[in-house]
Parts: sequence; C-alpha cells; structure tokens
Amino acid sequence: MHVINGVEALHVRLSGMGTVAFVPTMGNLHEGHLDLVRQARAHADCVVVSIFVNPLQFGPNEDFDKYPRTLAEDCTKLEGLADVVFAPTVSEMYPQRQSVFVAPPPIAEELCGAARPGHFRGMATVVLKLLNIVQTQVALFGKKDYQQLHIIREMVAQLNLPIRIIGGETVRAADGLALSSRNQYLTATERSEATFLRQVLSNVAQDVVRGVRAYPDIEAGAVAALAERGWQVDYVTVRERATLTLPQPADKSFVVLAAARLGATRLIDNLEVDIA
Ligand code: PAF
Repeated sequence: MHVINGVEALHVRLSGMGTVAFVPTMGNLHEGHLDLVRQARAHADCVVVSIFVNPLQFGPNEDFDKYPRTLAEDCTKLEGLADVVFAPTVSEMYPQRQSVFVAPPPIAEELCGAARPGHFRGMATVVLKLLNIVQTQVALFGKKDYQQLHIIREMVAQLNLPIRIIGGETVRAADGLALSSRNQYLTATERSEATFLRQVLSNVAQDVVRGVRAYPDIEAGAVAALAERGWQVDYVTVRERATLTLPQPADKSFVVLAAARLGATRLIDNLEVDIA
C-alpha cells in the first residue's frame, strides 16, 4: 500500500494501475469506512482511499480543530484493503484561496444544511476536487450521511461526471448506534443514551409502515421524546427517498432522517422505509 501526499505523485502512482474505485474519507477510520473499502475492491483494479479533513465543510464554531486525525492508525487498518492512500495537506488541496465552489442543490439548505450553513457547499467542492484528482470510475460513500450522498449523486448527475456513485449501508455497533468518528466525543452516559436516536427513527418508521400519514404529528412526537431525555433536536423528518422532498400520497419509498445533539456532540442517523 502506498501513502501519497501530493497530487502529481498520485497521478504517477495511478498511471498504469487500471481502473480505480475511490473511497473519500476524513480519516479516523471505523468499520463503516472499512466496509466501503472492502466493497470497492469488487469494482476496479485499484482501490484508493483519501484521508483529508476538509476545512471548507466546517463552520467557524464546529469541530475542525478537534476532529480526530489518526493517519498512522488509519494506514494500519487499510493495509491489505487499499492500494493507495491519498493523504494531502490543506495546502496541497488548496494551494490558493479557494474562490470557485460547487453550488449544491436547494436541499443543501435544509436538514443538516439548516444547522450547518455552507457545509454542503464545502463538502461538494472538495468531493468534486477529489474526484477530479483521483480520476476514478467508481466512488463509494456511506448512507449514514444520507443527505451528503444525495447531494453527491445530484452533483455527479447534473454535472455529467462519468462516475458511478455507490451508497454503502450504515454499519452499526451491536447496540444499534450508527458508527461515526464523532461517537468518541460522547461521555459514557451519553454513549449509552445515544442508541435512543435509532429507537426513535425505528418508531417513526413503524408508524409509516402502519399507515400513519400525519407526518408532522409523528415527527413532533419523535422530537418531544428526544427532548424529554435531554437531546437538543435539529430535526426528525420523513422524506421521499429519491428526492428528500416532503412525501406525497403516492410515494412508497421513504427515509426517516434525524439530527440531534447529546451534550456537545451532534449525531445523525436515518432509516429507509418501504410501504407496499
Ligand atoms: O463524509 C465524509 O467523510 C466527508 O464529508 C467527505 C465525503 C470525505 C468529504 O470531505
């Protein structure tokens, strides 16, 4: 496995290595990332993982400075799974002040975008840069970041990028908590409470399957259940799955999405739901 920091060096290394499947990450890898990297192997000759904590997608009061940077441990985990790790510095990715950005679709202002202004613009911009740098044919992203995956799919489709985007299922701890690098910010008490988020999503999903269509009511019930236990809720919402818009009567495929803070830690999760 080759660990490469520079764009030019990456191009030299990848020339002649055949087709590429790419997993972009911000590092601090857990089983959710490794699952994507394992899947990537089935799609191309060469598997590339990027590790880059992207300053453009963090707001001024967010956790950019304290985001865990664990390159050596990440490389150990990737040994035998990836062929190339691309770990650029900030100045390699942004040699000049970035003044050209991807303008993401309007959904980027809703859901997580409402609480994190500019997040999806910064995310989409770095993903486009990474896709151009790695020149991949296939890229894999986790469904845990459902809105992110949706925006990336829209960007790739609407900008005619010749890249297949694959969404990987969310990997969960044994108690159901979606794996996330941010779980390590939780205290022991918060960590045991954190599983309640999935419980709430599951209750909403069951209501949808049972035929309840008063979405604002079930969403409000879910928000109240979380708030009662001390969560600060950004949103719990049922959306049509392909568009992330509000459900219409004929819709059959949904996703229930939630974001809420436990103490200082913001957690997100989602569950897909189908009705007959
Ligand atoms: O999901 C992430 O880890 C990041 O948002 C991504 C896609 C690597 C862009 O920085």
